Amino acid sequence: MTSIPSVRPAPAAFGDPVSAVDTPALLVELGAFERNIARMAAFAKEKGVRLRPHGKTHKCATIARAQIDAGAVGVCCQKVSEAEAFVAGGVEDVLVSNEIVMPSKLRRLAALTAKARIGVCVDHPRGLEALIAAAPEAARPIDVYIELDVGGGRCGIERIEDGLRLMDRIGAARNLALAGIQAYQGSAQHLRKPAERRAAIEEAVRRVVALREALTKHGAGQLIVTGAGTGTFYLEAASGVYDEIQPGSYIFMDRDYGDNEWAAEAWRFENSLFLLTTVMSRRASHAVVDAGHKSHGVDSGMPAVAGRADLLYDRPSDEHGEIFPATPQAVLPELGQQLRLIPGHCDPTVNLHDWLVGIRDGHVAALWPIEARGAFS
Ligand SMILES: Cc1ncc(COP(=O)(O)O)c(C=O)c1O
Repeated sequence: MTSIPSVRPAPAAFGDPVSAVDTPALLVELGAFERNIARMAAFAKEKGVRLRPHGKTHKCATIARAQIDAGAVGVCCQKVSEAEAFVAGGVEDVLVSNEIVMPSKLRRLAALTAKARIGVCVDHPRGLEALIAAAPEAARPIDVYIELDVGGGRCGIERIEDGLRLMDRIGAARNLALAGIQAYQGSAQHLRKPAERRAAIEEAVRRVVALREALTKHGAGQLIVTGAGTGTFYLEAASGVYDEIQPGSYIFMDRDYGDNEWAAEAWRFENSLFLLTTVMSRRASHAVVDAGHKSHGVDSGMPAVAGRADLLYDRPSDEHGEIFPATPQAVLPELGQQLRLIPGHCDPTVNLHDWLVGIRDGHVAALWPIEARGAFS
């Protein structure tokens, strides 16, 4: 396969003050980021659940290794190309928490077993047949997780009988091992009220228990139940049913997660990711910044302006965004001034950038390439 190496130079140099960072650029406040990593790792340890953070948030091998160094068993990702980037970056345990059905991708997945423990999800007999066809090329068995629809209504089996059939076929296949149940309730993560999230996860747990009991009665060995995100991880962990949690966004957070209500401060993580942007045009009515659709994802709504509740970001276009006063007293930023935006949604924002610029005490202290940026195949 022909490939293009990342050609963009880093937007800053070590030791630069933030004011010298070329914008738009993604800043990571290292203090908050490190506290987030440590808190989730301590939580998992205390509750006795395995932590397998989702790498789709950061797509960065340096961060994956930091999470593993803090106690995570490995990482998740969604795509084979992401898994390839993580394995190339030294990660030795990767679960593709997603269905992969294309034969060429499955062969690439099988090839990764030469360097790492690899898992993948199935929810359909035809997808499983494609995996079975590729598995003999694997250097060691691939962990297979039967994905269960736990309420999200997207992927995953809906009927227990389908899970039993998949289990039989996995058991008879060469180089495949039934590892467990993938049970991620994505549509629960941003339910704003803690009670709504609790009810959604109670239903997810009910469905998992029914499938797990049926698989066990059918002869399955030890099964790992894996799932959970930043909005609900504490609920799955408390269920006594989930063995492993997969939160991703907790390392950075974003405006959308910031809009959740949290039952306890303990479950709220700190914003560590900011999109640094510069005012490039200015009128009496508004300021124009250099951050638009090509530098942040607004699928979950507009970013907030960090530390400036009196300003609103709106009307993004490809390369521009507009800043308006939110109160009559607000003073708009001047031309050339920098603002920090809290992205509406961290994952698609990160995917637009080549570099994460780590900041400590107002200066550049880390430059991390986002190796899996654009790896969506
Ligand atoms: C399967 C799976 N697990 C875990 C996560 C992590 O979710 P979050 O980033 O909200 O913590 C996601 C995110 O979409 C996901 O798809």
